[in-house]
Amino acid sequence: MAKNADDLQWALQRRLEDVFAKLGEKYGDLTGRVEMRLRPDVSFDEVGGLPQAKAALQGFATALQHPERYLEWGITPPKGILLYGPPGTGKTTLARALATSAGAIYYHLKLLNLTSKFGANTGEILQESLRIAIGEKPGVLLLDEADALSLDHLLPPPQARESSARLVAALCEKLDAVDAATARVLVVAATSRTDVIDPSLVAPGRLDHLVEVPLPDPAGQREILDLQRAKLERKGGRALFSEIDYDKVVPLMGGMSGGDISDILRRALEAKVHGSTDGTTPPPVSTDDLLVAVETYRRVRGVVEKIRYGQYL
Ligand SMILES: Nc1ncnc2c1ncn2[C@@H]1O[C@H](COP(=O)(O)OP(=O)(O)O)[C@@H](O)[C@H]1O
Ligand SMILES: [Mg+2]
Repeated sequence: MAKNADDLQWALQRRLEDVFAKLGEKYGDLTGRVEMRLRPDVSFDEVGGLPQAKAALQGFATALQHPERYLEWGITPPKGILLYGPPGTGKTTLARALATSAGAIYYHLKLLNLTSKFGANTGEILQESLRIAIGEKPGVLLLDEADALSLDHLLPPPQARESSARLVAALCEKLDAVDAATARVLVVAATSRTDVIDPSLVAPGRLDHLVEVPLPDPAGQREILDLQRAKLERKGGRALFSEIDYDKVVPLMGGMSGGDISDILRRALEAKVHGSTDGTTPPPVSTDDLLVAVETYRRVRGVVEKIRYGQYL
């Protein structure tokens, strides 16, 4: 008999780990493809910009905590959400923050990695995961990189279409069977490619709440810079940045996402580590250091694009 909340958490953790381990035995190693967090720890306060997306997702916490409120208004709670927008804009982070704010278990299914290994059989793993999430509610089940359901990274178009249709049908079948009034589970799909999302996934009663997660505007970028800087300083346990002149930095960040910004800050800090070979502590990151990091990042992205489009092959 568990004595307190910690024991209960621990028992639940073990139970869920067991269930996923069994799933792994049946289908193959799920490491790096499926992750589960009993107590996700990213809050909405750590998400910069995105006022509409944040407000929308905060509303969905009600479906996890108080499904009866929908019934009082004569409707059933929502089952699912599609988060769409460019890469690195905070979709995964938002899904995790939703789970945190609702005290829900966070299940992260990385569909690119799952489909690359299991192809159309990924459908069974999705069905099983949904079953597990419903068994231990409340839960947020994130279908991350949901565009991978199209299987167009694996198969030539005709086969991809056929196998993908089977996979999506398996998922929809399970979604339709969920009793939203009692489930306290939200399925959240995230994608940067709405063009390949199967329309049946976003049909009414399925992932029918569409939330856009756009690139940040300059004010959003400023907020993201501040938040990420504070987070890094908490991790480092000291001030890592000096006073930053945002009016110089932000105009050079046109079109950059929160993911880009986080990479730039990491590069600026890495330069400090690499620059102090004699063991002395260099001064904190300055505005000029950041400007250099932004330029380096742009150059690296340019090369990555060339590699992607085969110009270096
Ligand atoms: N709006 C944002 N506010 C704060 N951090 C962000 C934001 N958008 C992205 N990030 C950071 O960028 C990285 C990638 O974000 P992620 O949520 O994985 O983006 P996506 O899922 O849209 O590709 C994470 O480290 C995250 O903390
Ligand atoms: Mg993501």
